[in-house]
Amino acid sequence: MSDPLLAFRPEFPILERTTYLVSNSLGAMPRGVPDRLAEYVDEWAEQGVRAWGRAWWELPARLGDEIAPLIGADPGQVVMAGNVTLGQATVLSALDYPPQRNRIVMTALDFPSVRYVYDRLATRLGAEIVVVPAAADGIGVDADAVIAAIDERTRLVCISHVLFRSAFVMDVAPIVRRAHEMGALVSLDAFHSVGVMPVDVKALGVDFLTAGVLKWLCGGPGGCFLYVAPGAPSALEPSLTGWQAHAHPFAFEPEMAYTPGIYRWLNGTPSVPALYAAIEGPRIVKRAGVEAIRAKSMRQTARLIELADARGHPVNTPRDPARRGGTVAFDVPHAYEVSEYLLSRDVLVDYRPNAGIRVAPHFYTSDDELDAVVAMLDEALSTGRWREFAPRGGAAT
Ligand SMILES: Cc1ncc(COP(=O)(O)O)c(C=O)c1O
Repeated sequence: MSDPLLAFRPEFPILERTTYLVSNSLGAMPRGVPDRLAEYVDEWAEQGVRAWGRAWWELPARLGDEIAPLIGADPGQVVMAGNVTLGQATVLSALDYPPQRNRIVMTALDFPSVRYVYDRLATRLGAEIVVVPAAADGIGVDADAVIAAIDERTRLVCISHVLFRSAFVMDVAPIVRRAHEMGALVSLDAFHSVGVMPVDVKALGVDFLTAGVLKWLCGGPGGCFLYVAPGAPSALEPSLTGWQAHAHPFAFEPEMAYTPGIYRWLNGTPSVPALYAAIEGPRIVKRAGVEAIRAKSMRQTARLIELADARGHPVNTPRDPARRGGTVAFDVPHAYEVSEYLLSRDVLVDYRPNAGIRVAPHFYTSDDELDAVVAMLDEALSTGRWREFAPRGGAAT
């Protein structure tokens, strides 16, 4: 079967040397990135400090505008943030938590870093975190359980769009409806959805969304972003702030005065090289088209599940394609050591406790590579060569 998305393979040099199935962690680097970084270096070398005025200061918003169509947002609604944890912290720092409306609803399966900052920072600001437990299968979270946790005391609902361990797709829209009925806001962590499946902030109705370019958008570390809905109360003033959020940053005024636009969600000096590295990946993903990427991803993840079933390996991933993101987690024996065996043979995957070996095809993955990863997994187990690798955190046995 011909697969037009394979035409993008030459854009990613690492595909010549490896079986790259880890785009849920770090997408492959586009071959255009060195030129972008050279551009940054040239600007620094030639323009010196003038580069701030000519290109750099506005980069967080310009790049945000390029990413906006990938989440159905408009220009001026997305801005770059150093990482998702900081983007989420900025959101929670913009809200007040009076005792009668101080609850933040999260789930037990959200990414720990986000939980850490909510548990530590939001509670210090007076919030109370309500954690909705995992569903009985341990793979997903029941949307009805989240809905039931939202009431008139809820200030914010912060949930993942796609759960990082299992790739379970949360049913976000009814959760947003309930939150809004109760007067609460919703902050969606879409790190595992943007770039591998369509995301539409308007259809979902979320107030905030965070994600990053380093996974499915192939943009490298340091290029995360925050979307703020036009309806999110315009009076919000993040206390995690800085001079990029000031109405007159170069007046160096002693008091904070928030700028009205998307810049009010920024803080200090942006990490310019990371933003240059981030330019190419989202452009390629837009050219490939997220609808086509999703169709291929659903087909290839289904194929991976078939291959796992044929061998009797459990998968910790939803079987319903509509509820499944871009990753399949193989729950094989000695999963960590097997994953190390695969890595040592240039088959790039990752391992997560309570998930297993996560295999993440992307638009540049061929079907042969799916067969190759499963064959390699068979080999590690049948030969016992997984024993050559030290257990996680322990010595080799
Ligand atoms: C769903 C999700 N949220 C948040 C994070 C953490 O992001 P960051 O390191 O950018 O703060 C990750 C990291 O992989 C993630 O998978």
